Amino acid sequence: MSYVRSTAFDETGYVVLDSYDQAADPKEWLDLEYVDWKSSGDTRFAPLASAFGDMECNGFWNHTPPRTDKDGVWVPSNIEKAPILKARAEEPGANIGRCRVIELQPDTYPTALYNLHQDDNNRLNPDGTGWIVRGFFNLSDDPDSYLILREDRFDPETEVRISLPAGRQVIVDTQRFWHAVWQKGPEPRYCLITSWESGPELDAYIEKYHGDPHFPSAALDPKFVEDAQVEVRRRLAERAATLAARGKAGQVLVDLDLDED
Ligand SMILES: [Fe+2]
Repeated sequence: MSYVRSTAFDETGYVVLDSYDQAADPKEWLDLEYVDWKSSGDTRFAPLASAFGDMECNGFWNHTPPRTDKDGVWVPSNIEKAPILKARAEEPGANIGRCRVIELQPDTYPTALYNLHQDDNNRLNPDGTGWIVRGFFNLSDDPDSYLILREDRFDPETEVRISLPAGRQVIVDTQRFWHAVWQKGPEPRYCLITSWESGPELDAYIEKYHGDPHFPSAALDPKFVEDAQVEVRRRLAERAATLAARGKAGQVLVDLDLDED
């Protein structure tokens, strides 16, 4: 398959844009309608754009006819309440697929590692068109929480941790990276997540806001990381044993192949 990809992602697979002045905006995300949607962690989602403009979050490939994560349809009752969020999603001028606000309840580092997953944004994406990447605009102020990215799911050496103060703007090739968020809390995290099609429009947007592929990763005590890794392996083994006992051996990886941030 030959997709149009942004050269901004060539080196590391993600970019951090200039910070956005989130404090200057009203907290539109608190007015939205959220729906329960199982994701990596204890989550709800407020869809701004969905497959057909309905108040739901399913992947576009699970609708009829199935299609890739492009040409999202705005959800009228939610965008009425969030014109600024809609405008921010539209600013690049790139094709938008799913666009939603995630609400993530606090979790722990081992739980975030357990929830690491790759997205499936490019399922059914036609050859020769733009590769789909995702924007994460942090809305709540979570400076001690991290977006965790790993090239290799089980290798902490590949881990990047991007802090999440209000206004942090990250674009990630989420089909390439294993990713999840460690939300320290005590409040939930809110983030605008948008699927964009790669192409000249997105390239220009990344350039305009000085997309940085080498944004500094936050440090963690190596022992803390190692302990968490041991705990994750224990949980995965436990889950595999549970599934095996139910005659569903092999499904553990499928179960963890979650759809969302
Ligand atoms: Fe995801």
